[in-house]
Amino acid sequence: MIDLLDLHKYFILKHLREGDVAVDFTMGNGYDTAFLSQTVGERGKVYAFDIQAAAVESTRRHLEEIGAPKNYTLIHASHHLVKDYVKEPIRAGMFNLGWLPGGDKSITTLRETTLPAIQAAIELLDRDAILNVAVYPGHEEGDAEGKMICEYLASISRYKVCATRINILNSPTSPYFIMIETKP
Ligand SMILES: C[S@@+](CC[C@H](N)C(=O)[O-])C[C@H]1O[C@@H](n2cnc3c(N)ncnc32)[C@H](O)[C@@H]1O
Repeated sequence: MIDLLDLHKYFILKHLREGDVAVDFTMGNGYDTAFLSQTVGERGKVYAFDIQAAAVESTRRHLEEIGAPKNYTLIHASHHLVKDYVKEPIRAGMFNLGWLPGGDKSITTLRETTLPAIQAAIELLDRDAILNVAVYPGHEEGDAEGKMICEYLASISRYKVCATRINILNSPTSPYFIMIETKP
């Protein structure tokens, strides 16, 4: 069976290399930040965003516990403000939408900030870069968020980015993901 998160990483690793710059747009408990940090190594750089102080602390603890390279900047701010903090092209970005696992389910990603964040992220993409967005259509806001993102991406020129969606056809409420890639 396909494991969505394994696939997510498989595609990111087609683009992201040691020394690159990456962004975790939804740091949560830091598992994706850790993956990016370990992939780009000491010479690389990772920026990670979350609106919850508890997520920033949980991520900091996790990165220290696993001895991740000290290449990360943890930012307590909404991801739609990414351009205030990241001034260089990025090779990979991860959005894992929804709420903090084990946290307050009322604090979730929302359409009004998710879309501007994705638009800003696309503008920051380097050549041969990728953005991955994990969507959770099993709850109302997640479903609406996913539809909005797909509609927006379908309207962008194929010559600017290639946008692909991977979902389980016979399980429509299961998570799915969207990849946005630039050419080498
Ligand atoms: C599904 S969790 C992310 C899981 C995480 N990537 C991990 O590896 O543990 C979604 C996170 O997005 C955060 N979030 C919600 N709205 C946000 C926003 N506008 N900007 C940045 N983070 C946001 C939530 O606080 C939550 O921690």
